[in-house]
Amino acid sequence: MEILIIKGGKKLEGEITISGAKNAALPLMAATILWSGKHKLSNIPDVRDIRTMIRLLTTLGAAVTEGKNSYHIDTTNLCKEEAPYNLVKTMRASVLTLGPLLSRLGKAKVSLPGGCAIGARPIDLHIQGLEKMGAAITLSQGYVIAETDGLRGADISFDIPTVTGTENIMMAAVTARGKTRIENAAREPEVKDLAEALISMGANISGAGESMIEIEGTDELTPLSYSIIPDRIETGTFCAIAGVTNSNVLLKGCKPEHLESVIEKLREAGIDITVESSSLRVKGPSKLHSTNIKTMPYPWFPTDMQAQFMALMCVADGTSVIREKIFENRYMHVAELRRMGANIETEGNTATVRGVNTLNAAPVMATDLRASASLIVAAMAAEGETIIDRIYHLDRGYEKIDEKLVSLGGDVKRVSI
Ligand code: UD1
Repeated sequence: MEILIIKGGKKLEGEITISGAKNAALPLMAATILWSGKHKLSNIPDVRDIRTMIRLLTTLGAAVTEGKNSYHIDTTNLCKEEAPYNLVKTMRASVLTLGPLLSRLGKAKVSLPGGCAIGARPIDLHIQGLEKMGAAITLSQGYVIAETDGLRGADISFDIPTVTGTENIMMAAVTARGKTRIENAAREPEVKDLAEALISMGANISGAGESMIEIEGTDELTPLSYSIIPDRIETGTFCAIAGVTNSNVLLKGCKPEHLESVIEKLREAGIDITVESSSLRVKGPSKLHSTNIKTMPYPWFPTDMQAQFMALMCVADGTSVIREKIFENRYMHVAELRRMGANIETEGNTATVRGVNTLNAAPVMATDLRASASLIVAAMAAEGETIIDRIYHLDRGYEKIDEKLVSLGGDVKRVSI
């Protein structure tokens, strides 16, 4: 097992390049199931969730060759329909294979993701949508078992804009007979990126990035050759780290337009951000200001940045109120931040953070992906040496974060224990 040891209080300087977005890469990898042939994906981050998806595709019969941040995925001999529990349990996004498997093989057996650290996270909306498209679905022994003699277009209206649900239905609809309409679709950049990739394969999709997506089924696609968008959450996380350490860093290779709501809030907190076409210059203030946030579906403030923003607010002047409106149990980091001296009270989905002058280093434990990123933000600002345990959560979604911090002058060590 590995831990991170971070000596806080160092000002960072220099530049880093933002990696490809994990949450855009995963659906695109699943999309290769849709069509037999040799697909090529580039700008893929080297993170654990991607390796899990590769194992899953291989289990289904795909042949995968790895390059530098790129993969050739040959789905010609893809023949198995089962996404087994041992893979799905480590990565909920495995559920993204459900729609493509139904489309390609007419059957799918995907383990239910089950409980998750950040809430119940059901997949009922994925299932209802696929049923409307003509899939017969049963739940048995922890698996979703789906079959169809041919998917057909349908009008699907989501109660909640679900990201992977929208992606699953969009992929299933690409080769379905007739037109599918997804109402109240998720508008996240990752959904739009998937649509653009599918369009490059020959799919007929309009409206991605808006609340209504229309897909006209086709029976002719070509293999995918596509480069993944940069990771907006990694970008936001590095902005928070630069902000909390009063640093001056350049984040290259990002898409600032994907994090407008985050940039607005970071600026309210006193962080100086200069936007260029594909980079952000971030300068932290000597003292952060408190500001309130409420997480909402895109284009509003993302839940995946809530924990990191909370860590910032721990050392801001005044009181900030944070409302988590997407997931019901996404305050696992609070107890760990408190161990470092943060003053945070929670009631239901609301957290009240009263800023303190300094955080103090402590041994802390990562509990989920973004919670572990918030501990890094806090540790970089804290006095003393913080030890972060269970960093396998961090490694699910951040590519070489420790190496990037070291390259900026951070005192960060990864140690095997
Ligand atoms: C995706 C992201 C995750 C991010 C989340 C919200 C990926 C791989 N993961 O997760 O990083 O935190 O979006 O931006 O892209 N819901 C239902 N029924 C469903 C599906 C969802 O009730 O069938 C609810 C969820 O419990 C949650 C809300 O809808 O309250 C949004 O969840 P959703 O957008 O589906 O999250 P994911 O796609 O799992």
